[in-house]
This record gives sequence, structure tokens and C-alpha cells, in this order.
Amino acid sequence: MQVDLLSPWWIRDVEIPTRLVLAPMAGVSVQAFRRQGRRFGAGLVCSEMVSCAGLQHGNERTLGYLRIASDERPLAVQIFGSEPGVMAEAASMVEDAGADLVDINFGCPVRKVTKTGAGATLLEDPERACAVVAAVTDAVSVPVTVKMRRGLANGSLSCLDLGPRLVDAGAESLTLHPRSAKQMYTGEADHSLTAELVEQVDVPVIASGDVTSRARAQAILATTGAAAVMVGRAAQGNPWALREIVEGDAGPPTREEVVAELILFMRETVRELGEHRSTGFLKKFYGWYLGRGRFPRPFKQELVQLETLDEVEARLLAAAPGAAEILAGLEADQPDGEDDVVLDLPISIYGGG
Ligand SMILES: Cc1cc2nc3c(=O)[nH]c(=O)nc-3n(C[C@H](O)[C@H](O)[C@H](O)COP(=O)(O)O)c2cc1C
Repeated sequence: MQVDLLSPWWIRDVEIPTRLVLAPMAGVSVQAFRRQGRRFGAGLVCSEMVSCAGLQHGNERTLGYLRIASDERPLAVQIFGSEPGVMAEAASMVEDAGADLVDINFGCPVRKVTKTGAGATLLEDPERACAVVAAVTDAVSVPVTVKMRRGLANGSLSCLDLGPRLVDAGAESLTLHPRSAKQMYTGEADHSLTAELVEQVDVPVIASGDVTSRARAQAILATTGAAAVMVGRAAQGNPWALREIVEGDAGPPTREEVVAELILFMRETVRELGEHRSTGFLKKFYGWYLGRGRFPRPFKQELVQLETLDEVEARLLAAAPGAAEILAGLEADQPDGEDDVVLDLPISIYGGG
């Protein structure tokens, strides 16, 4: 049966207007990315993973890093850690900051995280994983969700054993990225596991992994019974992929549209992270936006070498002068930020899931 990607669904009482969820990505999912994702059709967006220990201790440099703006909601904030009490405390801070959902990371394969017993390690430690979910569920009134990988080792089926237990412990939705932690991002996501998980739980399941086109999204929804698909890497520097998946082919963006979106993204990121941090942070986005045959390769290399973001902007506008008008339109549609909630918390460890 074909699922209408533009139809709403619910995680308990949180209405999600489309069947596309923008993936949490450490080092990518800044506010500008999430807001852009919502504009291009994502029904739900998620922060990158936030260290619960970091939240507990506070960290001056990153205070105020995460803002929840009205136009990015519904929004999930993802936390990671392995101590139920600390996770509960972090979840309650996240709820106070205005998140619609608290998501727990049981998928991060990065050693810096797994060696602390957090992330994907919890897939093989079901007692602790359930204790974390139960403690977090007790601490907040918003729905609690979990994002998992299939297990630690290749071929592992841990997610099928753990998933129903997490639901019993209080999880109201599960996202499955059906690769093992060992695989990192190699091989293919095995969505036959997603279909099995859907059979086993009575909460909505989100399918993550290798969703790159509308055809693929529809096939995964139809064959797994998942409530929604999650899109990660395909959306990096390419919000148009989200629109294509949700609404059907709108044709590739013009160079002017690409430049306008990139500059808006840069300006918003500077407001969020400050000029200094943004300069390095944004470099990877130049390749993501300007690649895909949109601009010649030397142009990207030239931008990466420029010293200031003002110079990058000027160079971009010189290459696509018509972008200025599109950019002015996009900026006029942005909210003024007065109703932003500054989440008084540090978001810092760059990892994955
Ligand atoms: C750079 C990067 C950072 C990621 N960070 C996170 C994260 O913080 N939390 C998480 O649950 N998953 C994280 N992931 C995993 C994605 O959310 C997603 O499950 C995975 O990339 C598969 O989806 P895709 O094929 O659409 O990219 C990250 C992935 C990438 C590529």
C-alpha cells in the first residue's frame, strides 16, 4: 500500500505533519539545518546528540548553543549517556527548554562514546538500556523516543530483542538504522529488520538509512510498515532532496537558489555559533552545496581558502548575482527570533549513530 508522505502521524499527542524526519547528525544538525529541513518538508527535526554529562556539568562555551525556534517545531532533542539518573536529569532540562520529544541515542558507534557505555553499547546491555528509558520516561511528560542501530556486531539482531523491551519501559517511538555499529556507514541498511521491528511493537517506527529518493522512501514505507522515513546524508547541502521525497520531483535547484540557501545557512549559523566557530564549521557545507555538478570543483576550493565569511559571501554572490533577490525573500520570511528559546545547555560531542 502506498503511504502518502504528506499525511500526518502522531507520537502520542505530538502531531507530525509529514512522513519525513530529518536525521540527527552531530556536527551538522544546527538550528539552520533543522529550520531549513522544516521549510523543505520534514515533519520532524532533531538536534544532534547531546551529552547528558555535559548538560549536568554545564559548559560556558556551549551555553546557548541550542535554540528552539517556533518554526522548527515539532523538534526532538537527542541525549546520550548511560547513567539512568543523569539521563533523567538531562531529559528534564531538555523538556524545560521546550523540546516536543526527548530522543535517546542507542546507536552512536563512535569509540569516544561507546567506551563510556553509552550509544550503541546499550544495544547489548538491555537491563541498563531499559533502566535509562524508564528513568527518562519518569522524569518528563513529553514522549520519549529511542534511536537504535541493529546491534554492535555485523549480523546482530539485538534491536529485535531490545525494541519491545524499550517500549515496555516507556519508549513511544523507535527509530531503527539497521546497520551494525561495526559497519559504521559501510554496506547497506537492511530494512527487512525494520519490517520485523514494526511487527513486534505497537508504537510508530521510523526507518533510517539510505533514504535518498522518493521512490526509495515509498518502497521502504510500503515494505516495512514504518510510520515515517528518516533522511540524513542525502539532505546535507541538499534540502531539495527533502522536497523531492515529500512532494515529488520539483526539478533541480538553480544556481541562484543554491547560493541563496547557502548564504542564508551561513548567516543563521553565524548567529548561532558566532563567526569564529562558524568559519571552520561551514567549510564542509560548501562542498555539499556546490557539488552535485552545480558548480565547478575549483570554485569550492577557492571558497575554502578564503579567510572571512564576508569574502565567501561576496564570491558566491559574484558567481550567481540573481541569488541576492532570492536571499532577500528568504530572509523576509524568517521569524525575528524573539520567541526563540535558548536552551541553556551545552551540545558538543561530535559523534554519530
Ligand atoms: C555526520 C553524521 C553524524 C551523525 N550524528 C548522529 C547523532 O548525533 N545521533 C544519531 O542518532 N545519529 C547520528 N547519525 C546517524 C544518522 O542519524 C542516520 O541514522 C544515518 O546517517 C543513516 O541515515 P542516512 O543514510 O539517511 O544518512 C549521524 C550520521 C552522520 C552521517
